[in-house]
Amino acid sequence: MINKADVVVGLAWGDEAKGKITSQLAKTKSFDGSNYYDIVGRWAGGNNAGHTVFVDGKKYKTHLVPSGVFFGVKSVVGPGCVLNIKSFNEEIEYLKDSGFDTALIKVSPRCHIVTDDHIELDKRFLAEKLGTTAKGIAPCYADKAARIGTLAVHALDSEMIWDEELYGNVLCEGAQGVWLDIDHGLYPYVTSSTTFPYAACSLGFPPQKIDKIWGAAKIYDTRSGEDPRFPASLLEDPVLKMLADLGQEYGVTTGRRRKVNWLNLNMLILAINKTGTTNLVISKCDILSQLGHYKVHYGGRLVSFKEFQQLLEFVEREIKSNCPLNPSITLSYSPENI
Ligand code: IMP
Ligand code: MG
Repeated sequence: MINKADVVVGLAWGDEAKGKITSQLAKTKSFDGSNYYDIVGRWAGGNNAGHTVFVDGKKYKTHLVPSGVFFGVKSVVGPGCVLNIKSFNEEIEYLKDSGFDTALIKVSPRCHIVTDDHIELDKRFLAEKLGTTAKGIAPCYADKAARIGTLAVHALDSEMIWDEELYGNVLCEGAQGVWLDIDHGLYPYVTSSTTFPYAACSLGFPPQKIDKIWGAAKIYDTRSGEDPRFPASLLEDPVLKMLADLGQEYGVTTGRRRKVNWLNLNMLILAINKTGTTNLVISKCDILSQLGHYKVHYGGRLVSFKEFQQLLEFVEREIKSNCPLNPSITLSYSPENI
């Protein structure tokens, strides 16, 4: 029986350091030295995601395998995910070669398979128009909805297939972010799945089991892909360009340069309240603190600060007074730790 579930969710447009937060949590130990989490599960998306994880100071990049595998925790790809077999096998080989126990990785029998045709369709009809990752994600979910998709149970070796048992403490690893959600994002500039934490229940547990919701945010906004809220002119702004360079804002999956903008604090507050975030982590404070320019969008204005500390105090104060759940706030100054 499942004891409880903690959820890690992105509070923006993806790339908010969910991988870092999940891996920090996944290695938590109980009093007796055993792993605190029994299972780490992904509930949506496919290899459109790109997670950067540091283990013992070494950097790893994954796309679909949940971060539990780095710390000896069973890692499951849930029924709401889509799976590209070739890229998944490559990821498993990469993890095996790096010394991790890949027998811990299991795939839901109900997970849908991404085919070469899906990728072709994505490249031909969506990649340019919407700036998708061109990984075949939307056509695969379309076939799922049309009831003509292929299930993992019919495509993978039986030892890879998850028995769908959940037990103990489960950590749910989000992909993308709330403003890319198919229902809540700026349609059609969205991904094909539900990125909100309630969808973590699709792993197979009831909503009452959710305990903590870890919201991942960044102290400035970034966007890969097309979005009218992030016009191409942002790429020309010299200060934002400097910020993009300092923060190395290039996609893990696509290598594309991300569009960078000052934090939209109204949208962050909305994301915290809509997701029910109890534990907020704001990353890349180390990056913005070096820039020498400190701004946030708030109440329809661009608010400037002389010192980075003043910006932080403003952000924390507005979150405290506008988020009734009163989340704990952690400011992260490191790409490796929270
Ligand atoms: P798709 O998920 O490949 O269909 O892409 C749809 C939109 O979501 C595009 O704007 C992508 O750039 C964006 N997107 C999808 N996955 C990620 C991610 O992991 N990080 C950031 N953006 C993403
Ligand atoms: Mg990413």
